[in-house]
Amino acid sequence: MLPGNRKGLVRPRITTFDEFRDAISAYRLPRVLLAALELDLFTAVGDRSWTADDLSKELKVSERGLSILCRNLAAVELLQKKGSVYKNSRLGATALNRNHRAYRGGYLELMQTHWQDWGRLLESVRSGLPIDHDIPDTPDYRRQFTWAMHHRTLEIAPAIVAQLRVGRAKTLLDLGGGPGTYAMAFLAKNPKMRAIVCDREAAIAVAKEIASTHRAGRRLAYLPLDFSKEPIPGTYDVIWYSNVLHIYSPEDNQTIFRRARAALAPGGRFIIQDAFLHDREGLHPTEASLFAVSMLLFTAGGNTYPVSETAKWLQGAGFVGIRTVPLKKGTEDWENGILEASAPGPSPRAIVRRTRSQGS
Ligand SMILES: C[S@@+](CC[C@H](N)C(=O)[O-])C[C@H]1O[C@@H](n2cnc3c(N)ncnc32)[C@H](O)[C@@H]1O
Repeated sequence: MLPGNRKGLVRPRITTFDEFRDAISAYRLPRVLLAALELDLFTAVGDRSWTADDLSKELKVSERGLSILCRNLAAVELLQKKGSVYKNSRLGATALNRNHRAYRGGYLELMQTHWQDWGRLLESVRSGLPIDHDIPDTPDYRRQFTWAMHHRTLEIAPAIVAQLRVGRAKTLLDLGGGPGTYAMAFLAKNPKMRAIVCDREAAIAVAKEIASTHRAGRRLAYLPLDFSKEPIPGTYDVIWYSNVLHIYSPEDNQTIFRRARAALAPGGRFIIQDAFLHDREGLHPTEASLFAVSMLLFTAGGNTYPVSETAKWLQGAGFVGIRTVPLKKGTEDWENGILEASAPGPSPRAIVRRTRSQGS
């Protein structure tokens, strides 16, 4: 249920007709990029040089259409253009190229389907329901989505975890951990730690595949569970709850918070990462506000929440020491997107660095 990277996004204001027009016209470049993905253009270009004419024959499209598409890809430096010859940029040749090991196909597919899904927004606005509310979550969908989460997160997870010091915590539960990308980053950074990914069976199958390619993966275990319906077995020093809060309604989140609190060792930490809203009216950051639209499209009760409201739910579930955890700008998943709380009890083994008091 996640969009792309949200670093460096500006806060748009629309006060004139020109600004309104420009905001709507922003669909043009995304549409050019998606057309290139639909053609699998970066894979076709590979590591060769092509004239637009040759490439159009390869892709079985018109030369005129391809030249205009390629010119626009070159204008944003996704392709390199010299005279009439095009080559891949580094990004095009790697993450966007199906034949390269760094290909991020899972997430590219998700972005393509999201384009279609967002075209159906009015259905959800009218009904208040997710667009495909009558279609169950299948293992195939879950698998594809879990790979998308991995491809989205594999670079930011280590950068975020590097800033979260968990002291001598020995056990970490990655609750709704999906591909386990964060759990793996915690394990890589903390050699004495053991972690458990809790998710649905199909997501766990992907997590196992990914963990099998890393040495630290030997310290990863798995817990298939629907934690919205059942208590969480076991006791942990840290529970990491990343990008799950927004999937659920306030009531469901409060139930999950109580379950997390019951599964923490005394003094253990519950660390939440999400698209928090930070202003009084709940409008900003813009990306967090827009992300609520995704939750309308894809979930029955999800939303994005003010950090202050989430802190109250944590208090209600018996947590203490509720704090936001600032990260270095440019390394965050969401702007000021980390909130942590402790289970009452003796001095925690897990200490998160650089905290700032949030609520009481
Ligand atoms: C948006 S993904 C986030 C994955 C990962 N935590 C991250 O930050 O990249 C949400 C994950 O939570 C899992 N999830 C949501 N509700 C769940 C539930 N009730 N029981 C088990 N897993 C759940 C989903 O299957 C999915 O893998």
